[in-house]
Amino acid sequence: MAVKKSKDSCKCVSEIVNSYGASPDSLISMLQDIQSKYHYLPETALRQVAKSLKLPLVQVFGVATFFKAFSLKPRGKNHIHVCLGTACHVRNAPSVLGEMERQLGVKAGETTDDMQFTLESVNCVGTCAMGPIVMVNGKYYGQMNTGKVKKTLAEYKKSPRQRKNEKVKVANRA
Ligand code: FES
Repeated sequence: MAVKKSKDSCKCVSEIVNSYGASPDSLISMLQDIQSKYHYLPETALRQVAKSLKLPLVQVFGVATFFKAFSLKPRGKNHIHVCLGTACHVRNAPSVLGEMERQLGVKAGETTDDMQFTLESVNCVGTCAMGPIVMVNGKYYGQMNTGKVKKTLAEYKKSPRQRKNEKVKVANRA
């Protein structure tokens, strides 16, 4: 979802800034919250944060570009990392990435047109014994193979209504 300079987005950024008492010490936390909301850091939001905190814009951009976890480019709602580190590579991770690319219709580093998925490759996420590893929104999928790709993606293609029904089922079990 691209963020337009609207009253809503300004209000949302203001709420985030104010939730940290508009303290420059909480800049990273604010940027995390903004990214969590929009899936990236829109330039308008960074300008608004800088203005609200009375910080030079270059300082806010400096933090936003220093940490790899932040993105200045629009990203999909779901963020997929396919590990291509050595241990995963020798267990066929490139084929897993290729199948992801085929199923999503994008190359690594790209976002689907519907803004649902961003696909990226990474080098080792520290769980080599379980490789090949795919991470979706921080959740690890081990021993991945091309046959599991479709099912994994399907988990994230569900409609909000389907997800809501699942939550109700889980809640009823408790
Ligand atoms: S190489 Fe993939 S988790 Fe280490």
